[in-house]
Amino acid sequence: MRVLVTGGCGLIGFNIAKHYVQKGHNVEVMDNLERSSLLGHSEVEEERTTFNFNELKELGVRTYRLDVSEQKSWNLRPNYDVIFHMAAQCGVPTSIENPRRDFEVNVQGTFNALEHARKTGGTLIYASTNKVYPIHDNFRLVGDRWQFDNDEWNQNGFPARDMNKLSGSRTPYGWSKYSGDLLCQEWNTTYGVRTGVFRMSCIYGKNQFGFEEQGWATWFSIATQKNLPITIFGDGKQVRDMLYVEDVVGAYDAFLRSDLDSGVFNLGGGWDNTISLNECLTILEEIYGKRSPITYEDWRPLDQKCYVSDISALREGLGWSPKVDPKTGLTLVSKWVKDNINIF
Ligand SMILES: NC(=O)c1ccc[n+]([C@@H]2O[C@H](COP(=O)([O-])OP(=O)(O)OC[C@H]3O[C@@H](n4cnc5c(N)ncnc54)[C@H](O)[C@@H]3O)[C@@H](O)[C@H]2O)c1
Repeated sequence: MRVLVTGGCGLIGFNIAKHYVQKGHNVEVMDNLERSSLLGHSEVEEERTTFNFNELKELGVRTYRLDVSEQKSWNLRPNYDVIFHMAAQCGVPTSIENPRRDFEVNVQGTFNALEHARKTGGTLIYASTNKVYPIHDNFRLVGDRWQFDNDEWNQNGFPARDMNKLSGSRTPYGWSKYSGDLLCQEWNTTYGVRTGVFRMSCIYGKNQFGFEEQGWATWFSIATQKNLPITIFGDGKQVRDMLYVEDVVGAYDAFLRSDLDSGVFNLGGGWDNTISLNECLTILEEIYGKRSPITYEDWRPLDQKCYVSDISALREGLGWSPKVDPKTGLTLVSKWVKDNINIF
């Protein structure tokens, strides 16, 4: 299989590229290595910026330093059996400060990827997000955890639903990703491009360069290891259904192998893999035997106090389920951070 991974030097893209090249497929990566500077960390050293890029080259992946939002990046690209379109501006606070880059990367970049798939054939897998759902109110605090104020969602998780029933603000990150999500659905119905859209919640894993702005679980691990202060926005009782990155690759692969011509799924750890931010800090304390100084600040605008995915469509339709629980996943991440502490 000929595979292209955009954003292949980021967390999810890296793990997709690694998975398929190790299975003997022909894998290419397109990434402009902009993650750190997009998130306001231009100080990050070259060694860290190119870490995943170099690791992929060693694994036999062909890597191209190109910007997905520029049409010329796509001109010389060949036909692919599948494009995993992961490249994005991923930071919510960043998107509020500079929405133009979200439009360029998340909307135009997705348009370019879809056009390539339309002209050359092949499937497109799109990394969408729970931030496409404008749910900001309607939560209740039960003990040390926020929940939905909705018994059905507390039972099954939040469903991939008809967006017309939801209104409210999404943040520029949310709307730009939602634009890409809709483009994928449209390119399927209008042009017959096979598209899989995965609205994901909190994904974490090895080879993630977490910052306070994005990638919080890995950031907490790096900060704990280095004794750096951690700021929690809110009370730390907010709940996420964490999903380890290898489980994400498993879900994408299950879709690729299926007979489905298209799909829009919620993808997360589900209720079994929920964790509050405070609970995450406690697990890290157990792993490292120490705790960073913690301060609590105001909630960030439009932060969801609880988000848990309804993953029944993936469980029942594709036979997929998460394999890695948060404690195991955080232990794997923390070992990777420890082994590479010189680049953090
Ligand atoms: N990590 C999560 O928790 C999560 C949750 C929901 C959705 N997503 C989505 O999944 C995808 C991958 O997320 P991730 O966590 O791996 O992010 P990441 O930031 O680790 O990786 C994104 C990669 O895209 C690259 N990139 C950015 N702009 C680019 C451009 N213009 N051209 C080429 N490359 C560019 C970056 O350099 C980076 O390597 C994103 O689309 C994100 O919106 C992630």
